[in-house]
Amino acid sequence: MYRTLYDILHDVSKSSMVDDGDLQAAGLLILTAALHGLQINRVGIWIFTDDKQAIRCRMLIDGDDCVIDGELELMRATYPNYFLALDNERAIVADNAQEHSSTIEFRDGYLIPFGITSMLDAPIRHRGNMLGIICCEHQGPERQWSSEEIAFASALADTYGRAISAAQRNDYERQLQEINDQLEQKINERTEILQHALRNLNHTQAKLIESEKLASLGRLVSGLAHEINTPLGIAVTSASHCANELKRIQHLYHDEQLNEQDFAQFLESIDDGLGLINNNLNRAATLVQNFKLSGAIHTANEEEQFELRDCIALTLKSLQPLLKKSQVNCQLDTGAPIQINSYPGAIAQIITNLITNSIHHAFNNTPEKKIHIQLHETPQQVAIHYTDNGCGIAEDIRAKIFEPFFTTARRTGGSGLGLSIVYNLITHKLGGDISINEDQSQGAAFTLNIPKTAPLHQQ
Ligand SMILES: Nc1ncnc2c1ncn2[C@@H]1O[C@H](COP(=O)(O)OP(=O)(O)O)[C@@H](O)[C@H]1O
Ligand SMILES: [Mg+2]
Repeated sequence: MYRTLYDILHDVSKSSMVDDGDLQAAGLLILTAALHGLQINRVGIWIFTDDKQAIRCRMLIDGDDCVIDGELELMRATYPNYFLALDNERAIVADNAQEHSSTIEFRDGYLIPFGITSMLDAPIRHRGNMLGIICCEHQGPERQWSSEEIAFASALADTYGRAISAAQRNDYERQLQEINDQLEQKINERTEILQHALRNLNHTQAKLIESEKLASLGRLVSGLAHEINTPLGIAVTSASHCANELKRIQHLYHDEQLNEQDFAQFLESIDDGLGLINNNLNRAATLVQNFKLSGAIHTANEEEQFELRDCIALTLKSLQPLLKKSQVNCQLDTGAPIQINSYPGAIAQIITNLITNSIHHAFNNTPEKKIHIQLHETPQQVAIHYTDNGCGIAEDIRAKIFEPFFTTARRTGGSGLGLSIVYNLITHKLGGDISINEDQSQGAAFTLNIPKTAPLHQQ
């Protein structure tokens, strides 16, 4: 069945093979079309080397043979005129190839042995550059290439250019996919590393927070120990005084020298001594009791009904030795009792941390060091206003002081956890909030808002 060149071209052009990206399949389709359309037996695709000094055969069909990526290569140095013609980037139309100025160089070595009489080379272009040619070779009696045939060969070469684009696109897509895969793998690896680091960090942070909590508890306990030491010391001295008196009176009695006056003195002295012991042991017991009430050594997890002012006063009492040593005068305003249902342990810890911060950070250049704590009650909440008359908190660090590990005192052993613990206790445990007052010109000033009823926590 005779098919016009136009029909063949139309079939090739609309074949999906051209744009599939499989260059070999597209090449085979195009060369087969050339064979049929031009009624020839030999046709090939030749592509320049990168330096354009040679042209290499990518695909050659000769009768029933098809060679792909064979060894055939033509050098510019050997065929200068042919390459000059190629440099024009136009089709080479050689009706009489064995005489044509562009192809005569092939006569003895190629055209005659293969019986080739006419040649038609159509340039393959891609993105405006000529990459090579489709070379149509006619054997048998010499023929004249018609303008339709020349246009047909050129159109096939253009179609091959289209196939190259598709192959390149495929290649890019594959590369992109590979890069994507690698990237994804890298991201996964990095994420794994980061997650590991984060787990470690969380673990370390939890440990540090725990040790800072223990440290602040330690400060309270050492305060308590100091307070208890005084009455216990008095009780011990008094007990040994009583023992001495008893010994003295026993001697007098055995020596039969005990008179009424000695005995009366002894009774008085024992009475005083026992009174002192009694008072001071009671004082110590009350201190322990109060300390327990202040929540400072509570298992810290129990919510209970208590009076806020007392709780703070007792915390201050246990911090008294520390305040005294640092010559800080700490005042809690007087006022009506405020009953709340919350966590006394957390409140003791918050107050302790704020006070230790004032002692450590505020009073470098303050002659009369003062801390003032005021309470304001509203129906649902209590506001605790905490101020000291130290240097205040500089504006540029205000946004950071509640962050864990932020400290301006790293060199002197600051952990940067104190205020972060305060923040967490207030916001999470007590369900309140804490803010730094705008005006820090008179010293540091914090406002703590605490609901009278703390949120319920699962133990
Ligand atoms: N009363 C204060 N006066 C001045 N600066 C303070 C005061 N309280 C806290 N700061 C600042 O806030 C920072 C963070 O406090 P904190 O979290 O308790 O850590 P640390 O006490 O270990 O430094 C301190 O390093 C200090 O710069
Ligand atoms: Mg601190």
